[in-house]
Order: sequence, then C-alpha cells, then structure tokens
Amino acid sequence: MAKKDSMSIMNEYKNAPQKEKIESKRILKVAIIGTGWIADAHANKYKDMSDVEIVALADLVPGKAERFAKKWDIPNARCYLSHKELLDAETDLDAVSICTYNRTHAECTIYALKKGVNVLCEKPMSVTLEEAVEMRRAEKESGKILSIGFQPRMDPNMKKIKEIVESGVLGDIYYIQTGGGRRRGIPTPFGTTFIEDKTAGIGAMGDIGCYSLDMVLNAIGYPKPLTVSGYKSDFFGKDPKTYPWHPEYAELFGVEDFAAGFIRLEGGIILDFRIAWAMNLDTPGDTIIMGKKGSLRIPSTECWNGSVGGPMKVYSEMAGSQVCTEIPIIQSPDIFHEKLRSFLDAIITGGKAPVPSEQIIINQAIIDGIIKSAELGKEIEINIPEV
Ligand SMILES: NC(=O)c1ccc[n+]([C@@H]2O[C@H](COP(=O)([O-])OP(=O)(O)OC[C@H]3O[C@@H](n4cnc5c(N)ncnc54)[C@H](O)[C@@H]3O)[C@@H](O)[C@H]2O)c1
Repeated sequence: MAKKDSMSIMNEYKNAPQKEKIESKRILKVAIIGTGWIADAHANKYKDMSDVEIVALADLVPGKAERFAKKWDIPNARCYLSHKELLDAETDLDAVSICTYNRTHAECTIYALKKGVNVLCEKPMSVTLEEAVEMRRAEKESGKILSIGFQPRMDPNMKKIKEIVESGVLGDIYYIQTGGGRRRGIPTPFGTTFIEDKTAGIGAMGDIGCYSLDMVLNAIGYPKPLTVSGYKSDFFGKDPKTYPWHPEYAELFGVEDFAAGFIRLEGGIILDFRIAWAMNLDTPGDTIIMGKKGSLRIPSTECWNGSVGGPMKVYSEMAGSQVCTEIPIIQSPDIFHEKLRSFLDAIITGGKAPVPSEQIIINQAIIDGIIKSAELGKEIEINIPEV
C-alpha cells in the first residue's frame, strides 16, 4: 500500500465530517425588533440562511425600520413602529430577534412569548432581576424557546474552559477572579443609548461584564449566588473630557462605567469580579479559576469583548513537581452565525434554547445584586424567586 504523505493525512482531518447541517424543510419566518446597531449583525446572518425569511421589522423611531429594510435589501419586510404593533399584526412568526436597548428587552420578550413566538433576546437578558424572572416565567408558560444572545458561548475556546473544569483536572473549585476592561471604551459610536439610564439601565456590566460572568459561571455549572458586596462608579462617564466631540454626553451618562463585586456562590466558591468601560490601567487582570488540584489562567484581552485573549494555562502538580500546561487557542467558527443558527435549529428540532434563560437569570441576579448592594453600601443576600 502506498505510504501517505503528512499533507494528505492532515487533509483527511480537514475533510472529517463537520457538525450536521440542519435546514428546515419550510421557510422560517423571522422578525427583528429594534433596527439599530446590533440588528445589522442579525440581518446579515439571517440573510445568508437559505431557510430564513425576514418578514417584519419594528423600530420606535419613525422611518428607521424602512431605512433598515432598504439597506439590507429586504423590500418585502413589513415595517412597524413598535414591538406591540408588529406582534399584533404578524400572526405567523417562527421567531423574533429582540435587538432593542436593555430597558425594553423584558417587555418585548414577554409580549412575543405571550404571542407564541420563539425569542432570541440580545444580551444582557434584562436590567433587573425582577424583569428576568418575568421573562423566564413567560417562557415557561408559552412552551416556546427564549435564548439569550451570548455569542461567546459558541467559541470553542470558551467551550474548552468548561471542558477543562469538567475534566476534573482542577479538582474542586474554590475561588474565581473574572472581569475585564478597557482603558477608554465607553461605547457611544451611534449615540447615547448605551449610556443613558432610560435606555441602557446598566452600563459596563450589561455591555461586557455579563460576558465575563457567563464565561466562568457556565464553566462551573451556574451555581446559585448567595450574597454579594458590590461597588459601582461613573468617574469617567460623568467627565465631559471623556467625549471632547460631545461634552454634553457627560450630563446624559446615567449608568456605571466601573463595577466590582465579591460574590459567595453555593458550594463554597468565591467569585471576585470587576469590569471597566474606562480606567487608568491596562487591564483589571486575567480570569483565574483556582481549584484544589490545579488552576486555570485565561488571558484577558486589551479591549474586553468576551473572547479568550491567548493560550490558557493550567498550573498543577505532577509527581511532586509544579508544572504548567499551555492550552493552544482554537480557531473559532463565525460565532455570531452560530448563535442565530443554534437558536433556529432548536426551534426546528424541538430542542432546548442554546443559551437558556434559566442560567442567565443567575447572571442577571448577580448584576442586580451588585447594583443594589452598591446603592445600600453593604453586603446583601441574593434571592432568586422560583419560576
Ligand atoms: N451580542 C453583541 O455582540 C452585541 C453587540 C452590541 C449590542 N448588543 C446588545 O444589543 C442591544 C441593542 O444595542 P444597539 O447598539 O443595537 O442599540 P441601538 O440603540 O443602536 O438600537 C436599539 C433600537 O431599538 C429600538 N427600540 C427600543 N425599544 C423598542 C420597541 N419597544 N419596539 C421597537 N423598537 C425599539 C430603538 O429605537 C433603537 O433604534 C443592547 O441590549 C446591547 O447590549 C449586543
């Protein structure tokens, strides 16, 4: 038998069967509510899917949905002025992407679920824990799917963190430090919806902190949080020098640009969290997961956006020697596509939400707890109502 060269052996791996592609036999009718910045990414990916038709759009700003339809070349999409108008009129939807600002995630999601429509809601799940509980309740009562838009979940490097924890190589976990930050990175490229209380409700935590929390909590199985001591500040957001081109934004700034929390989780695990939209520092630190048998270091990125910043390291002991194992970075697929596709595939197959609300409610409870504790100036208990 002829000997194979190394290239042809490698190519066999490349040609190994990929994840089976699920496509619906019928066209899935999808709507997008909120046609701002992130809606572009949803439209872009949906348009690439042969079994999806974007049939309706809604935005509160008159003419915005129509301009969006033109930009994405979806002339047949019907346009509405609110989520209610759209969901009252469109009685044949399979799914809706909620791409509104944080403050309206809950009302749009609950209204859609009550109309029997599956929902992909952008992150963060909501602003308050109470809203998240109502969203989860509406999902359960509807029998439909609610998935939350955490695309880093689709990143194989993130999945690797969970695999490492579940492999047992770290042993019992007792301390986690996570978070991230940007030296200067308050997001105002398209206006002020990220920084005003009436639209965003929460700042750095809702934008990027929720990714850090999901990264570690998903890895350890989302244990319940018990208590939190939180802190938040807005020194950069309230400073007109932060926006030399729009100094009036400082007046409008109504959320946190930095937050920290010390959280006790069920199982005796401590979670030490800090997140910054702006700071006089390069990074608030890597993510570390410390276990009795080993610890994992996950390098941060300069501008935290929920991706692993470089090869991870596992520190442990082997035959009496202290060793360090490097975990190489894995090339990621298009994680935004995967986020939408996994949601649609769950609808087609009757499967579970890829990023389930029953987990993300815990993420939201921690953010809510940090805010409430920071406002009270003391540690508080976190109680998540049963749904
Ligand atoms: N997954 C990601 O990578 C990612 C990235 C950016 C933003 N986001 C999230 O997406 C959400 C939207 O962010 P954005 O930057 O697109 O905001 P944006 O302000 O650009 O767009 C939001 C749009 O929603 C509309 N809207 C609000 N309530 C509505 C309602 N009830 N009915 C119809 N339209 C309504 C607003 O008029 C606005 O045009 C935020 O929650 C944000 O956290 C996620």
